[in-house]
Amino acid sequence: MTILEKVNLTTGTGWGSGPCVGNTGSVPRLNIPSLCLQDGPNGIRFTDFITNFPSGLATGSTFNKHLMYTRGRAIGLEAKLKGVDILLGPTIGPIGYKAQGGRNWESFGFDPYLQGIAGACTVQGIQSQGVVAAARQFIGNEQERFRQVNEWTGGDWDRLSESINSVIKDRVMHEIYLWPWADVVHAGVGGVMCSYNRVNGTYACENSYLLNYLLKEELGFQGFVVSDWGAQHTGVDSALSGLDMTMPGEIFGDWCSGKSYWGPLLTRAVYNETIPQSRLNDMVSRILASFFSIDSKLPNSDYEEDLPNFSSWTFHTYDQEFPFQSYGPIKQTNYHVDLRDDSTEWTALEVAREAIVLLKNDGHNLPISEKDGIRRLLIAGAAAGPDSKGFNSKDQKSVGGALFQGWGSASVNAPYGITPYEAIVQKARERDMVIDFTSDQYDLDHVDDIAEYADMAVVFAVASSGEGYIEVDGNFGDRKNLSLWQNSEELIDHIASRCHKTVVVITATGPVDLEPFIDNENVVAVLLSAPLGQYFGKAIAEVLFGEVNPSGRLPFTIARKWDQYVPIIDKIPIKGKPTDDLNRLLDYRFFDENGIRPRFEFGYGLSYTKFSLSDLSIKEILPPTTDLPYPPPYLDEYVFAEEKLRDVEDALFPFKEFSPVPGFVYPYLFNEKIYSVDEYEYPEGYTEEECYQEPISGGGLGGNDALWNTLYSVHAEVTNIGDVEGAYVGELYIDYPSGYDGIKTPRQLRGFDKVHLKPGESGKLEFEILRRDISVWDTEDQSWVIIPGTYKLYVGSSSRRLELAGEVEIL
Ligand code: NOJ
Repeated sequence: MTILEKVNLTTGTGWGSGPCVGNTGSVPRLNIPSLCLQDGPNGIRFTDFITNFPSGLATGSTFNKHLMYTRGRAIGLEAKLKGVDILLGPTIGPIGYKAQGGRNWESFGFDPYLQGIAGACTVQGIQSQGVVAAARQFIGNEQERFRQVNEWTGGDWDRLSESINSVIKDRVMHEIYLWPWADVVHAGVGGVMCSYNRVNGTYACENSYLLNYLLKEELGFQGFVVSDWGAQHTGVDSALSGLDMTMPGEIFGDWCSGKSYWGPLLTRAVYNETIPQSRLNDMVSRILASFFSIDSKLPNSDYEEDLPNFSSWTFHTYDQEFPFQSYGPIKQTNYHVDLRDDSTEWTALEVAREAIVLLKNDGHNLPISEKDGIRRLLIAGAAAGPDSKGFNSKDQKSVGGALFQGWGSASVNAPYGITPYEAIVQKARERDMVIDFTSDQYDLDHVDDIAEYADMAVVFAVASSGEGYIEVDGNFGDRKNLSLWQNSEELIDHIASRCHKTVVVITATGPVDLEPFIDNENVVAVLLSAPLGQYFGKAIAEVLFGEVNPSGRLPFTIARKWDQYVPIIDKIPIKGKPTDDLNRLLDYRFFDENGIRPRFEFGYGLSYTKFSLSDLSIKEILPPTTDLPYPPPYLDEYVFAEEKLRDVEDALFPFKEFSPVPGFVYPYLFNEKIYSVDEYEYPEGYTEEECYQEPISGGGLGGNDALWNTLYSVHAEVTNIGDVEGAYVGELYIDYPSGYDGIKTPRQLRGFDKVHLKPGESGKLEFEILRRDISVWDTEDQSWVIIPGTYKLYVGSSSRRLELAGEVEIL
């Protein structure tokens, strides 16, 4: 390939310059198409006739690995059939350091182990369909506010001179933030998206330590790093620091301008040898190797039929080729291909069912039954019905009705949304109940009246959030507080003071404040879930009426006091560079270590049946050793022949052949000035020599292969001792001996398994403890070590309900 052809694959063609949210240039000579990069983690963004899957956070709440994989596969299938090459998902960062974090609903839960397993299962599912997954956002993107300069203007925002800086110390980086990335790399993820924020002072997309060392060297990542949209801040530095693809091509905020840090400038930097050709070759090999090993489009095959059959920029069937730029001929832009089938529908529904968490069920008032004298049912809350703006306001920023998803790039155009009102009414009528309904959140006199007559009231409430480029009622992506929205607390209070059997159903993008009503004895039951997608209403109605037994578990802790959570940084310091310290213990680790009793702990969730646990057995599979074995030496690097740089003239824009499309980013030079390498100031410490040592902790996909060895297998027996069928999630936690550096490793989740059991039936919970699960990061040796001592193993139904205990002694 020529330099121009290679550069073309590394640089997006520009916002709106192609059908997808990101489009690389193509290499027609070799039949390599423009690659289509499309959001997202919960389904395919900006198109129609697709499935609105339950959110990542809902998927995490199922604690069901099979469903995690199946959902990934279903999303991958839809992506494939729409012509997507690279799917921008799953989201495995944020990790949930901040309860109010806007994008927590996209990822799987506030724990690296849960996040890692769910991320890996999703990657395997997506890629099984021949679509490359690009896991996002690497790394430390824990809040939306201040993620980018110029995202908002006016007031304090004008003083923001650099994106927020996430400070993460070495041990925390390895044991918490990097942990799930090791899982997805191990699972063979093809792409990784670097984030907007800075990490330890340097932008994530030009942070050589993060990209070149941690990701590519230590975790052995073989794929490509793509920038978040406009997260690139330099040309040469980012290339040398490990960025392989820039998206959407232009500089942040200068959309549709055609101005890029790469494109022509990357060509120039290679021509004047500021960037070695070997780096460009590396970028392109990483992109093409991922694409050809995962995608089924092969060079020289007829890829035409696999091209994207939709446009992200218009819903019209026919439109201009570049509607954003008002340019190009009118052509068919959307083919409205309907690719939903029984398997995608089933997956969306099944994940929604298993994601619902029953928090309270005093007096067993749920499931709703006419046998308990429930004949007059009140459904209350705007969140029970459709939003007056419909299901598909731009990027789902309206939150006036039932909440199917959060807002931003992870939202999709829902094909429909089954509201709770619709689904409950159907079931209630089948049971000869009468139903009343109010969506009034403010006229509480009226609500008081109708609540008096209800045998049971079901009140729906929400709290939403999303990506930082959208503001909803003062919530700039992140939630400004943890309260329920739209006066819901008052509404619940009024209804519960009139109706002695009030059930509260909450959809939220993260933890919410339950204190105003959780102890109210008339609030007999509370259900909570993360956004459940198109089947929200159906799934919740099935749970309310007992057709489905709830089996979701909390993927985060619900505190009693707000100030027990880490706040969003919302002030900009004098120099305009906010800093965020991500070193406090994450979620339940903080509550456990500080002896703080949460309202509901991580992993908690009730059922309509009861289970008993017994017979914990721990079997050693491989004897543990303190230190990791050295990985085998690297294979010899394949060195590509360097192209003899031809005349600069060859790289000039071929104006004679065609005219540039406005705003399109090309690889061609616009003039012959290429400057000289001496004019470039390299970052401090930069050398052309390879100066790294092969890390002991590296050597395989996701790190040293030995980290993935199973050291112990753990089993326990679980029996359904209740009257109805149900599913039990067994959670395995480990207590570690005190570390060599005196820093105690907090108790943490290291396994989960879900079994479905009929009444009286028993089943086996199975866990595998890998070497990495009992290792801690040794900052001095820069390696994973196993500390000798006693490891306590617990199996239970939450992070605090640890029914069975055992231990292993490591000498
Ligand atoms: C910005 C978001 O942070 C990222 O996750 C997304 O993939 C891109 N926009 C493209 O929509």
